Amino acid sequence: MKYKITIFAMVAVCALAARGAAPQNERMNHFIDDLMSRMTLQEKIGQLNLPVTGDIITGSSVSGNVVDLIEAGGVGGLFNMKGERQIRQLQDVAVKKSRLGIPLIFGMDVIHGYETIFPIPLALSMSWDMDAIRSSARIAALEATADGICWSFSPMVDVCREPRWGRMSEGNGEDPYLGAAICRAMIEGYQGQDLTDRATMMSCVKHFALYGAPEAGRDYNTVDMSRVRMFNEYFEPYKAGVEAGAGSFMSSFNTIDYVPASANRWLMTEVLRDQWGFDGFVVTDYTAISEMMNHGMGDYQTVGALALNAGCDMDMVSDAYRTTLEKSLAEGRVSIETIDRACRRVLEAKYKLGLFDDPYRYLDAKRRGKEIYTAANRAEARRIATETFVLLKNDDNVLPLRREGKIALVGPLANTRANMPGTWSVAATSDRYSTLLEAMQRAVSGKAEVLYAKGCNVCYDEELEKNSTMFGREMRDPRDAAVMRDEAVRLAQQCDVIVAAMGEPSEMSGEASSRSSLTILDAQRDLLEALLKTGKPIVLLNFSGRATVMNWEAEHLPAIMNVWFGGSEAADAICDVVFGDVSPGGKLTVTMPRNEGQIPIYYNHLNTGRPNPKWFTKYTSNYLDVPNDALFPFGYGLSYTTFSYSPLTLSSNAMTATGSITASVTVTNTGSCAGAEVVQLYIRDMVGSIARPVQELKDFARIQLQPGESRTVSFTITPDKLKFYNSNLDYVLEPGDFEVMVGTDSRHVQRLPFAVK
Ligand code: NOJ
Repeated sequence: MKYKITIFAMVAVCALAARGAAPQNERMNHFIDDLMSRMTLQEKIGQLNLPVTGDIITGSSVSGNVVDLIEAGGVGGLFNMKGERQIRQLQDVAVKKSRLGIPLIFGMDVIHGYETIFPIPLALSMSWDMDAIRSSARIAALEATADGICWSFSPMVDVCREPRWGRMSEGNGEDPYLGAAICRAMIEGYQGQDLTDRATMMSCVKHFALYGAPEAGRDYNTVDMSRVRMFNEYFEPYKAGVEAGAGSFMSSFNTIDYVPASANRWLMTEVLRDQWGFDGFVVTDYTAISEMMNHGMGDYQTVGALALNAGCDMDMVSDAYRTTLEKSLAEGRVSIETIDRACRRVLEAKYKLGLFDDPYRYLDAKRRGKEIYTAANRAEARRIATETFVLLKNDDNVLPLRREGKIALVGPLANTRANMPGTWSVAATSDRYSTLLEAMQRAVSGKAEVLYAKGCNVCYDEELEKNSTMFGREMRDPRDAAVMRDEAVRLAQQCDVIVAAMGEPSEMSGEASSRSSLTILDAQRDLLEALLKTGKPIVLLNFSGRATVMNWEAEHLPAIMNVWFGGSEAADAICDVVFGDVSPGGKLTVTMPRNEGQIPIYYNHLNTGRPNPKWFTKYTSNYLDVPNDALFPFGYGLSYTTFSYSPLTLSSNAMTATGSITASVTVTNTGSCAGAEVVQLYIRDMVGSIARPVQELKDFARIQLQPGESRTVSFTITPDKLKFYNSNLDYVLEPGDFEVMVGTDSRHVQRLPFAVK
């Protein structure tokens, strides 16, 4: 009780101070100084402990005995526990039963919505719509805080050129500039203007760093790259997270320069804090500390000390801090200053969230019923989902479909509810979400007939399907493959058009879901081949959490639209686009390879000394068996309408190192329906002290145009768009020749030269 009185007294002091000129930080520092002066060593270490509770676990370890530990002051926070009531019970233990009554912080992987689920992050990135992305994070925060969660393990900003890696689905694609913009938008959405607002939550930028570049695309695998590459091609989104004021960062599982991120002091302290000025706290990923024993970094005590000394403040699930730091302190392997600093950072986060002011700030039972999964939130999720679909092919304008005649809906993704929201939707309540079949029947009701046959399972291999449909996503049909296929073919023969809902089940991407083959799976391909023989037009709706390989499909099918995983409202959103109520405007944020052997394939690559844009020429850089280029390039995506671009103009063909020039183009909607276009600006530095990429995205504008409407899009080329990290890792602008490219995707651009004098 003593502490509580002190806390409330302090709050009163704070309130008085707020009216004066004392800056916020000073008040926080006073408060925490006072609190820490009364904490025991064990209580300080307790704040650094983040055990897991509830059913949602992502590793082999779970934490036991949590209630007793909270009471003993041995827990700083908890995560992935759903429900205001349960959270309140544990907050009660912390506040009423622990000696100092320090409130817990409650985190969760709210990575693309809470119960209203938005498209998976990879899909969101395809919208190139920062307002939409900000809005998705704001609604996620609104719903999560209405259910007791005040800390989101998002945004994940790992640049990824590696589609074999299942977690490509959780990130923003391959581009660092776009990834940085998305990172800012998400943090703004989660954290708002004021972290103490009951509807905002603290964000956690993850996974620091480079987790998106695992060797061979296998999850948790080694990462190794030059520092020049780190700084120029991978770090920008994390740095943007610091600049946007993210309250926390999460360390990654992988090694960097042969040292696991959680033990990497250069990364966690020198880069993150000393260079970039991060002042929040760092939490490790799930058991990342104890896993360092497998990395060969030493025993349990050693890895605990390594992580703390590197700059990791909070230990997620390893329990290494709680059980070994006291001993390490006694043996001089960590210092009390380091423990104090980590403890202070965790307490600061709680202070910034207003938890000391009111530990029950996010525990308002009345909010749950009113603010979660509301009609308004769902409408926004549906609208946003329509922006994320990428139309890859549409011969003879097969799409949009008319609401008439008979439509055959086939494929393993056509009639599943649990696979619609997409991977890692921790708080999903899937039984409330529509299947595509239900949504399509609603969308055509009374005007057309939708006939359904599953046609095939995900794949022939039962084991592969089982491992790709975990956690309630199971959908295997026990029938014989030929029986299922024949049924679908017979049904298709009676119809005017076939819609094939195919691709990956939702758990075929996400954590620990790497694939070595990225083609449409065997049973689905066989069904497509059989359906083709009916002569009916086929629309492939490709569900996926990564870039897939679709050569055969691109050659044989008239229409392909990638729908990724669109969230709780995906089914209705897909119908909005399929039937033309909304024109697709998504653009690829990942390069689609022709085959897996091209990986890594990405648009912003360096030139070689023997470049070859065409297919095979001896002694040039190419393959014998496949062209170098992508099947579908970065930035690509069609619309139901068409756009024309006027000639590109520059306000000047030269600028100074502190000046700027403007690149302009007028875009006209030349088709017959409204549509969105993403105008993209790329830059190439023609000569540098190090080799520079053939193009780099440096700006973009998503515009909506009515038929016949024109808009002039102007981009200002400022020095920061031309700078890069040189061999000394200095961020420099080197005067000389540049090229600006503007276009509808990374391949189709107009080019103009300019110089920096
Ligand atoms: C492991 C994942 O790598 C990370 O992204 C997630 O936030 C934690 N588990 C907590 O669930």
